[in-house]
Amino acid sequence: MPTPEEQVDQWFDPKKPSTTEVGAKRESDAHSLSVGPDGPLLLHDVALVEKIARFDRERVPERSPHAKGSGAFGEFVVTGDVSKYTKAKFLQPGKTTPMLARFSTVAGELGSPDSWRDVRGFALKFYTEEGNFDMVGNNTPVFFVRDPMKFPDFIHSQKRLPDSGLRSPNMQWDFWSLSPESAHQVAYLMGPRGLPKTWRNMNGYSSHTYMWVNEDGEKFWVKYHFLTDQGVENMSNEEAAKLAGEDADVHRRDLFDAIKKGDYPSWTLHVQVMPFEDAKTYRFNPFDLTKTWSKNDYPRIEVGRFTLNQNPINHYAQIEQAAFSPSNTVPGTGVSPDKMLLGRVFSYPDAHRNRIGTNFNQLPVNAPVVKTNNYDKEGHMQYHHTGAAPVYAPNSYGRAFQDTQGVVDNGWEADGELVRTAYTLHRDDDDFGQAHTLVREVFSEEERQELVNTVVDMLKSDLEEPVLSNVFAYWKSIDEEVGQAIEDGYRKG
Ligand code: HEM
Repeated sequence: MPTPEEQVDQWFDPKKPSTTEVGAKRESDAHSLSVGPDGPLLLHDVALVEKIARFDRERVPERSPHAKGSGAFGEFVVTGDVSKYTKAKFLQPGKTTPMLARFSTVAGELGSPDSWRDVRGFALKFYTEEGNFDMVGNNTPVFFVRDPMKFPDFIHSQKRLPDSGLRSPNMQWDFWSLSPESAHQVAYLMGPRGLPKTWRNMNGYSSHTYMWVNEDGEKFWVKYHFLTDQGVENMSNEEAAKLAGEDADVHRRDLFDAIKKGDYPSWTLHVQVMPFEDAKTYRFNPFDLTKTWSKNDYPRIEVGRFTLNQNPINHYAQIEQAAFSPSNTVPGTGVSPDKMLLGRVFSYPDAHRNRIGTNFNQLPVNAPVVKTNNYDKEGHMQYHHTGAAPVYAPNSYGRAFQDTQGVVDNGWEADGELVRTAYTLHRDDDDFGQAHTLVREVFSEEERQELVNTVVDMLKSDLEEPVLSNVFAYWKSIDEEVGQAIEDGYRKG
């Protein structure tokens, strides 16, 4: 893996006087060509035209969700032994793998404050010897919806109103209260984890269930937990509001400054491992993204630790153009029947082709450290190519043709009629049970009170009927007492 410094192209020589983009001398970086000092500018001032035209094209679209964020490079070291669960080479004992992390907020735009209450993205890319492995998770172990069909609606409700262009708690609560499966994640969001003190002080979760396969072909279901070695710390609504005004980039700055002064943050990876067959009878549907698995049923197993020790040297090239995707898996790992995950596997590379361009994987930050070979070709900005080698397979000229057939080792049984439906229900499945446990048994009395204040404050902004009544009913379904406190708090004004 080239270091960020090594990734800087030989294209530039910072000592050389300015040139055009094709290397000829530019007369001036400061003065355009005019007919006399006050005369009109000239179209054949190539330097000016090139400079302005290039400026006009400086932006690529921001990420649709998770637009505001930043990250750093580091390395992942395996300290445990999970070889009986997975054959993935980068997860074998003692192995070290270079990696990249990007943290983000979900709903805000590129310039939005880091301290707005939101779920935080936790995206990792491991440059392994078997190709890139990405883990694109959040700082919470669950999510708002369980079917990809609802994801665009969810994001629309968190973004801006079509007429005023304003964000709207009424719209957010309307969607959530009519989507009861959101209760667990909303309880997390309105609780302390909605405002992490820094990115260094938050955990990351795969949230989804993924698959692992060992050398003998045995399959397991896994959930990844990246626990912060800095300790979980959050901030209050007051601190967050103040910071949103005083330092909108507080989290970006904190990470960059910590790494710059050698205070490298790290996270310890644990996994919960479920034997393949347990999935059929576990009390919760293990592929439902709105649910966690009890740590009593499936205790955390330590795998390794990643440390971030290198800042980007060019934010745009290495962070803005970074492309993370749950579709990037390696042998010994795989996806699961989680419908959201299956939807995401399509969505991310599709978004990257649109946001960055067809050949986004050829950019140094996205390129694997291993050589590639496929018959995908051309498109905007192709850089690497195969010369005059055959561009089709099979061929008679020695370029490889891959055709493995048969059952894949990381699949699962699927049969039945084509249906549109929620998951099969398991014994303890419902929308509010785990949300209730979180609010009543995990949160302290103080955290519950803070949650009530947070929700009441939000409701006071632009909430109108019938959304308001739906929100009271929603919270009473999570926890009668908390719901009543929210209603009373609102009515008191
Ligand atoms: C970013 C789609 C669910 C975590 C994105 C992006 C898209 C997207 C299009 C922007 C990608 C880019 O332009 O680079 C979806 C869809 C989902 C879904 C369709 C559900 C069907 C989730 C879930 C999680 C998640 C459940 C967490 C468990 C993230 C993160 C990023 C992201 C962390 C930012 C990645 C980065 O730092 O570049 N999502 N998403 N998303 N999503 Fe999702």
